Amino acid sequence: MSTVAVIGAGYVGLTTAACLAHIGHNVTCADIDEAKISQLNNGEIPIHEARLPELVQEGISKQLLKFVVGAQHAVTTSDFVFLCLPTPQGEDGRADIGVVLEVVEEISPIIPPRTIIINKSTVPIGTNDSIQATIQRTDISVVSNPEFLREGVAVTDFLQPDRIVIGATNKEAGERVAALYAEINAPIVEVDLASAETIKYATNSFLATKVSFVNGLAAVCEAVGADIESVTRGLGSDQRIGSRFLQPGPGWGGSCFPKDMQALVRIATDAGYEFDLLRAVIEANEQQFDRIVNKAEALLGQDLAGNNVTLLGLTFKAHTDDLRNSPAIEVAKRLAAKGATLTAYDPMVKSESGIPQEIRLVTSMEQALTGSDLALVLTEWPEFTRANWAGFINTMNGPRVVDARNVLDRKEMVELGYLYDDLGRT
Ligand code: UDX
Repeated sequence: MSTVAVIGAGYVGLTTAACLAHIGHNVTCADIDEAKISQLNNGEIPIHEARLPELVQEGISKQLLKFVVGAQHAVTTSDFVFLCLPTPQGEDGRADIGVVLEVVEEISPIIPPRTIIINKSTVPIGTNDSIQATIQRTDISVVSNPEFLREGVAVTDFLQPDRIVIGATNKEAGERVAALYAEINAPIVEVDLASAETIKYATNSFLATKVSFVNGLAAVCEAVGADIESVTRGLGSDQRIGSRFLQPGPGWGGSCFPKDMQALVRIATDAGYEFDLLRAVIEANEQQFDRIVNKAEALLGQDLAGNNVTLLGLTFKAHTDDLRNSPAIEVAKRLAAKGATLTAYDPMVKSESGIPQEIRLVTSMEQALTGSDLALVLTEWPEFTRANWAGFINTMNGPRVVDARNVLDRKEMVELGYLYDDLGRT
């Protein structure tokens, strides 16, 4: 058991703190947000992550997890300090590491001898080297330990990872960090600092590329009369490709893919290489939003202006409440720009505060579909798949559905009398 500080109580920090306590470490998690810290100390979880409430409760009751305000109150007795801090995308596409540098500056004079600073935040390649340089202490090592946590399933991804990446200059420091994860059954990939930082960007960029590839493939399937689900079954059976992340959709979004893609393009350019392939993937993703809008227009058979359009799903994917860089919102903006009247329902979106003002938010599918000329399924919530679509035929003004997640049964929808379109399915 080690004494660990986790700085930052967001998706990554909170998951890291709760999971490290779960595997037996003594964890203090710090954030600057007092309200969030008092919520957490009362066992209230401000984010939607499966299994996280239980793990936080367990950690608190075992006195292996506590929450404090301010990093300085978490680090003075820690052997390890995890940095789980925001590195938002700056104007120029570069990741802004200001918060990371501020916290390092604050804690490096007060952390105990031989403490290891472990950076989990996604940072430009070379950052951890420069952090090491700014710390005026030779007894402190910086280690890069990037996270691969998908929102909604972050706890599972932490406790059952495909691999644990540890980037270190000081071999002994790397081994000490690897030992923290002894309870977790996963291969450890030990590399240098720059390679660990690159692995993070490479992973997200490759996954985004894979999604854009399958979205393009779905368009080809439509054009040639092939079936995308049959094609991806054959494609994904190739061990070199794998069957995951081959689900067509309205495009990729969220708080990571868009930011990390822009950052990697910028990092490459700064380093003298124009990563045009990734630029093309980013462009293809923008075009996917347009493609969904075109499908809606085609199904309507007329301009969108003046038509009542229903958005089923607003979050960037199912099983999260996160609207950041949501493809659904991108599609909605384009529909509104074309004059559609928008009504939306999303099981996890309760307030209109985080969505464009052109969208009227309602609290049920029934309400959202009443009087609608066309509906789009934009997030793969199970509720939309399970719904009794026969019951909505007469609720809608015109029974038209664009299924941008391929979650409905095409045959059934057509037999019910819907004008139906999806992505690449025959
Ligand atoms: C991602 C990475 O998966 C995770 O490892 C990293 O740490 C953070 O970023 P997340 O942002 O939660 O996680 O989203 P993810 O589940 O990866 O999906 C990203 C986007 O791709 C979503 O918009 C999703 O709808 C889309 N997607 C994903 C598809 O359209 N099709 C797929 O098959 C998979």
